[in-house]
Amino acid sequence: MAEEKKKQVDVTANLVPIFIMGKKYEVPGSLTIQKAMEYAGYLLVRGCGCRGGICGACGTIYRFPNDHKLHFGLACQTVVEPNMYLTQLPFFPANKSTYDLEKLNTETDQIAKIYPEVYKCMGCNACTQSCPMDIEVMEYMAAAISGDVEKAAELSFDCVMCGLCTSRCPAEEQQYNVAILARRLYGKYMLPKAEHLEERVKQVNEGRYEVMLKELMKADKNELKRRYVEEREMEPDMADEMWEPKDKRYL
Ligand code: SF4
Ligand code: SF4
Ligand code: FES
Repeated sequence: MAEEKKKQVDVTANLVPIFIMGKKYEVPGSLTIQKAMEYAGYLLVRGCGCRGGICGACGTIYRFPNDHKLHFGLACQTVVEPNMYLTQLPFFPANKSTYDLEKLNTETDQIAKIYPEVYKCMGCNACTQSCPMDIEVMEYMAAAISGDVEKAAELSFDCVMCGLCTSRCPAEEQQYNVAILARRLYGKYMLPKAEHLEERVKQVNEGRYEVMLKELMKADKNELKRRYVEEREMEPDMADEMWEPKDKRYL
């Protein structure tokens, strides 16, 4: 207990001022923006999902005093800095076309037919500069415009759909929706089919997991707790890629 108290004192020893939507807070300087907001009393319902840099829900924009430059980051990945003025942008509206992937192909005009506004891109690079994942957004847009599906898909592979690029675009593009279309086309029509995935889909369709799921649905809280906390076999932190659990019934 004494040890825990000591740790708490250590965490709060280095408080730094930050400004969340214009209001000043003193927060521990070692926290991410997301944890600092919670420390300051915010209950994060929107603007927070995976907490691991994957879901793109926590897009954040910030500036420092006497500095014209805008900075962009994911709140769950970016550590606070003294005097950052920040606001979150958990969602930014973007045109999202509907299409039937089965009826598309990889011809060069395919993306532009669905998102004709790609031709309005003026090559300003504001999108690349705002991407918290350091993606060459302007480059993948250029690839999409020229119909190079493979290049657009590969360049945009790390996109977390945060929408920050879209918020900055003077041509009102929706880069991340263009990018996901490219990746869908690439995955469906250009990459070889993943045989193990097909096999797993077949197993699911044949009901391989039905019994297990029904068991879990019937279990009460204590039973779920026992299975999850006491019995669950977890992959070790340093497991090699061939690691498998001992219980292979549901593999
Ligand atoms: S490309 Fe755009 S939507 Fe994707 S991660 Fe970068 S800024 Fe976010
Ligand atoms: S911000 Fe918009 S206009 Fe500028 S390069 Fe990116 S997509 Fe093109
Ligand atoms: S909460 Fe998912 S990326 Fe930050």
